[in-house]
Amino acid sequence: MQIIALSNQKGGCGKTTSAINIAASLASMGKRALLIDLDPQAHATFGLGIRNEKIENSIYNVLTEQKGKKKYFIEDAIIPIDTHLDLAPSHILLSTIEQEFTNKDESVSRLHEVLAALSFPYDFVVIDCPPSLGFLTFNALRAAQTVIVPVELSSFSLMGVSKLLSMIELIRVKLRHTPKVYALPTLVDMRTNFSKYMIHEIRGAFGENIFNSFIRQTVAVKESQAKGTPLIKYNSRSKGAADYLMLTQEILNKVPSVEEIMKTQPSNRLAGSANRLYDFSFKKEGAKEVHIVGDFNNWSVSNQSLLWQKEKDIWQKRLSLEPGRYRYKFVVDGEWTTDPSNHSIEPNPYGGLDSVLEVD
Ligand SMILES: Nc1ncnc2c1ncn2[C@@H]1O[C@H](COP(=O)(O)OP(=O)(O)OP(=O)(O)O)[C@@H](O)[C@H]1O
Ligand SMILES: [Mg+2]
Repeated sequence: MQIIALSNQKGGCGKTTSAINIAASLASMGKRALLIDLDPQAHATFGLGIRNEKIENSIYNVLTEQKGKKKYFIEDAIIPIDTHLDLAPSHILLSTIEQEFTNKDESVSRLHEVLAALSFPYDFVVIDCPPSLGFLTFNALRAAQTVIVPVELSSFSLMGVSKLLSMIELIRVKLRHTPKVYALPTLVDMRTNFSKYMIHEIRGAFGENIFNSFIRQTVAVKESQAKGTPLIKYNSRSKGAADYLMLTQEILNKVPSVEEIMKTQPSNRLAGSANRLYDFSFKKEGAKEVHIVGDFNNWSVSNQSLLWQKEKDIWQKRLSLEPGRYRYKFVVDGEWTTDPSNHSIEPNPYGGLDSVLEVD
């Protein structure tokens, strides 16, 4: 699963337009895509035609960690939009979420952890960031393997980009996570010398890490957003749709494959590194709450150990595990039990049995 964040603290440079249309173009090419709207303004949510009244749970419910509140999984918030295209919608409460966290060090990796446990098999997750460099953007940059920085060619929009690059550098040094960063020229009007000048300036800041594709100014963008539909659906022959398809093809050529990530970042604990993803599932009629505990989480029952209720009586959780040998159990409404779908069981020192999983 590739995670791409669209980020630039400058407002109105095409983050949301690009996030929507990259996700929709990926879906049109047969890739399973999830768009996460991480901006409290909820423009991506509205841009896909989703109104407040249709939203039961948002990414806010998933990221919040207020004590005593019900735990939500990202799967609970996802709204299907089209074939291969889903949305995790935003909520205005996201704007205040930072103040809820007492442990700031852990809080910056919330989205990263949520996505590592995501059980739907997406090929791509596209994150639309707000126009600021706060907690939400930090979470997105921490989770992403690729960061696309839209740069509006019709103004001096490179101002401030150095702050974003410094934040990425901080993530590299502190969290040992190094996303690839690319500039994307947007709102391009090639008839003007100013656009040509700006391309030159972008090369100065980003070197070779600039897309060859660029997004031209076109009235179809506003029209499609007013209709709540991506360009490719609104008018697949428009120049806007063509620009985003070409860009998406370039993204597919550029983004590192899972194998490349393993080679360059062996210590990266993201899904796709040396870790293996395991899907645990448990079935029990009438169960209210199912946890999984084991050597991988110090056998502790917490919000983090909860399984997601996939459908009535079926519970599921995806874990990213380093190679090793793990004993584990399910905790079903307070009762500890082995995994019925795993025949590998061995006695524990307390006279009971544990399930055993070997990850190689
Ligand atoms: N290629 C384009 N052609 C014409 N208009 C565009 C294009 N891309 C974006 N716009 C318009 O420019 C405005 C800003 O775009 P968008 O919302 O995508 O930027 P943003 O970076 O997400 O803004 P914010 O920082 O507020 O989140 C919108 O009104 C959008 O319709
Ligand atoms: Mg936006």
